Amino acid sequence: VSFDIEGMAFPYSFGSHCLDRVVAELDGYGTDRLVVVTDDVVARLHGDAVIPALTAAAPVHLFSRPPGEGMKTVDTVRDCLDAAVAAGATRRSVVVSFGGGVPGNVAGTVAGLLYRGVRLVHLPTTMVAATDSVLSLKQAVNGQSGKNHFGLYRRPEAVFVDVALLRTLSDRELRSGMCEFAKNALAIHPDLLAPLRERLRAGVLRELDTLLWVIEASLDAKRAVMRYDAYEQGTGLVLEYGHTVGHAIELCDARRRGVDAIAHGEAIALGALVAAHVSAALGHLDKEAVAVHQELVEILGVKERIPIDVPRDEILAALRRDSKRGFLSVGSDEVAFVLLRALGEPLGDGERPLVPVPLRLVAEVLDELGIGG
Ligand SMILES: NC(=O)c1ccc[n+]([C@@H]2O[C@H](COP(=O)([O-])OP(=O)(O)OC[C@H]3O[C@@H](n4cnc5c(N)ncnc54)[C@H](O)[C@@H]3O)[C@@H](O)[C@H]2O)c1
Repeated sequence: VSFDIEGMAFPYSFGSHCLDRVVAELDGYGTDRLVVVTDDVVARLHGDAVIPALTAAAPVHLFSRPPGEGMKTVDTVRDCLDAAVAAGATRRSVVVSFGGGVPGNVAGTVAGLLYRGVRLVHLPTTMVAATDSVLSLKQAVNGQSGKNHFGLYRRPEAVFVDVALLRTLSDRELRSGMCEFAKNALAIHPDLLAPLRERLRAGVLRELDTLLWVIEASLDAKRAVMRYDAYEQGTGLVLEYGHTVGHAIELCDARRRGVDAIAHGEAIALGALVAAHVSAALGHLDKEAVAVHQELVEILGVKERIPIDVPRDEILAALRRDSKRGFLSVGSDEVAFVLLRALGEPLGDGERPLVPVPLRLVAEVLDELGIGG
């Protein structure tokens, strides 16, 4: 299929056991080198199957780091750039992300910086990456005080998803992907909620049919939003639903628990639940819609993952440095939020779906939900 956004379409292909087709495509790129960015877990699980295959298209320089948010740094990007140049990368080289959203964002940033921009190809291996992060031009790494503070926009040449590579995902990682999907269903396509609940209850997350359904539905939801706002700076900010508190929780927990920290999607689901309670407290969202959020968090198994020992003040401090700062002018005791007035209907001024929320109210909701300590 073609992922069609504001005249910046790129091909998105998916299938099962289709590496040979990927290699045949890459063969046509006329590239002199592939700089493959991955993490150590993906390299161990799938490197033997994928790297020799890719070598048939061009010589591969492999760059790998221990997995997790800790890899998403400017230092990693600089190391990767230096290693690519030392390995002989040129303007004709292609940066290939091979892994989840973390290697994907590192690779995207590297592709944008290397010689002021070389081609980027994504080979996602998580649900979060296949259904969300590769369907975005946004590439970024984390700073000391916040997620995704340093980055750029880069359109990939192509995305290739081989769902056979997703088989090794843990139940938790699979559910993390479903959390991002649930966020899109809540904020953009509420008609997806019923079939999602059905599949979650039936426990058929691993089935090929479910994976393909989620991929297709995610393509639809993202296309609907990004067609008019490819850079996600206006109406496209609806995709950030759940991300304000979600990112703050994810960052604070990752600092504490490293690879055992709450997964990205899990944090976003919690962020969406907080947003729903905030919106209800401000008199917008009704009880039934809040209950839908609550139920999803429960069937997605996120309740057990709530970080209770991250100090609440740390979460609030991270909120003040949210990467959306500046899109909306807010007071010093407020933070810009994506809130819903109803499922699928964001609040806002029509230009941007952002509203100011007092930090005090967020603190109350965190307290009520037992998030942080
Ligand atoms: N617009 C965007 O660019 C965008 C959108 C959504 C998420 N993101 C970013 O993506 C990141 C989250 O992505 P993620 O959840 O994929 O994280 P991730 O890349 O850290 O992957 C999660 C874990 O799964 C492991 N893994 C990857 N593939 C596997 C496989 N096939 N089998 C078994 N284990 C595997 C990884 O080693 C890692 O430990 C966050 O940093 C987030 O900010 C970016």
